[in-house]
Amino acid sequence: MSSRIAHAGLRAKITSAEEAATFIKNGMNVGMSGFTGSGYPKVVSQALADQIEATHAAGDPFKIGVWTGASTGPELDGALAKADGIGFRLPYSSDPIARDKINRGEINYFDMHLSHVAQIAWEGFLGPLDTAVIEVAGITPEGDLIPSTSVGNNKTWLDQAKQIILEVNSWQNLQLDGMHDIYYGTALPPNRVPIPLIRPDDRIGQPHFRCDPAKVVAVVETDSPDRNLPFAAPDANAKAIAGHLLEFLKNEVKQGRLPPSLLPLQSGVGNVTNAVLAGLMDAPFENMTSFTEVIQDGMIDLLESGKLLMASATAFSLSPAMAERLNRDASWFRDKLILRPQEISNHPELVRRLGCIAMNGLIEADIYGAVNSTHVMGSKIQNGIGGSGDFARNAFVSIFMTPSTAKGGAISAIVPQVSHVDHIAQDVQVIVTEQGLADLRGLVPRQRAMLIIENCAHPDFRDALKDYYERALRGSFGQQSPSLLTEALSWHQRFVETGSMRP
Ligand code: COA
Repeated sequence: MSSRIAHAGLRAKITSAEEAATFIKNGMNVGMSGFTGSGYPKVVSQALADQIEATHAAGDPFKIGVWTGASTGPELDGALAKADGIGFRLPYSSDPIARDKINRGEINYFDMHLSHVAQIAWEGFLGPLDTAVIEVAGITPEGDLIPSTSVGNNKTWLDQAKQIILEVNSWQNLQLDGMHDIYYGTALPPNRVPIPLIRPDDRIGQPHFRCDPAKVVAVVETDSPDRNLPFAAPDANAKAIAGHLLEFLKNEVKQGRLPPSLLPLQSGVGNVTNAVLAGLMDAPFENMTSFTEVIQDGMIDLLESGKLLMASATAFSLSPAMAERLNRDASWFRDKLILRPQEISNHPELVRRLGCIAMNGLIEADIYGAVNSTHVMGSKIQNGIGGSGDFARNAFVSIFMTPSTAKGGAISAIVPQVSHVDHIAQDVQVIVTEQGLADLRGLVPRQRAMLIIENCAHPDFRDALKDYYERALRGSFGQQSPSLLTEALSWHQRFVETGSMRP
């Protein structure tokens, strides 16, 4: 096992997770690895949670700031939230225990664009980074770090932290070595230069993280697996959404607006986006590429079929069965998959240059096309904006998709006005539900409203939306985006009061 730690000085720092966790003190900011359940520290975070619980039991305070790439797993977010150990959290979290505490106001949660995290940390707005806890697949004789299944913000945490704890995970396949592209050319203005990435398969960095061995206070060994969750088989709604979207893409090619190989695909996480990827298996597009944030099952299937040539991302988000397949054939996948820092995988400059086709989920959209991706009834956070804003604003085509209703039909995903705005209408070009697709490009708000209601709203809510819109046309203060201010959020209020948006 220790053979994975080829640097003699760092091998001398091997210790237990419990011992390593004692380096983390109350009030510290801790930058952890981890992105959508892959590549996060598993045993140090759990040992830290145990220490926090013991400290609280003794009547003393112990809370830390937790900075990551994105969501992690139960041994990190779940354990620390359960122990009441998180005072501040950024930038994306999907853990149910943490979500409850955020929504009770017990954790300060800073939701932000994932491409901005490294920059804002370097700008200094977040305060000092006291500790980095980073999972790696191995350590080279020179002391460089072989990344594991996610890259996220690890480069930044390793460079910025005053002290570093490494978790060397032998569950991770060493054949991942060579898959990563760690770019060290970013800088703050006025020293920024163009990022030299012209095609999605360009490699512009190095395979390993650099790391100052003098900052490493502990090295911990583990063989704990990533938390991989199975994808649900696509249901009728997901298949219908995928069907509408694929028809749209075929027509874009026919019209000459997209090439036959499409443009680099970005696909958000979740079952619906995975269903779209599954649909691409039988679609007439060849030699596709992907420039995205996470690689999920559908991408691996597309790679194996030869329809997708390569995929660039910052992390894997695979089902257990697919993670096993990837592990088995890692050497075959190595030159077809590239994992980069999230400031590069999600970089607006690159998304705009490459012309990505962005496909993301939403919580609700309004009749003018503004999208809420994060808040239920305007106040309860679901997960966070993730990379959806990085891609939506800069994509060549920006697509959002959702079933037209939620919570067994009690909620309409198309509403008179969104209760929280993540994506302004100008960033939303196409909305798809199982009912149909609204292509909003070039349409003014009044045209958008008619199309979204007709094509995307569920029939049970369509008449009520039309009724609202027609009355807004008569009673609105202005006619650019007609609205009835006292009624626009009444559907949400009704849900809060009665458990349903239905009149
Ligand atoms: N009102 C209330 N709840 C809603 C809702 C609405 N309009 N729409 C969805 N939800 C709830 C669902 O009921 C479900 O709740 P549950 O977990 O209690 O069952 C939950 O939100 C997830 O919805 P689901 O329909 O399963 O869709 P999903 O897994 O595709 O997630 C988002 C949808 C918007 C939550 C998800 O895409 C997300 O977090 N997006 C923001 C980040 C992002 O886009 N990342 C990718 C960028 S690379």
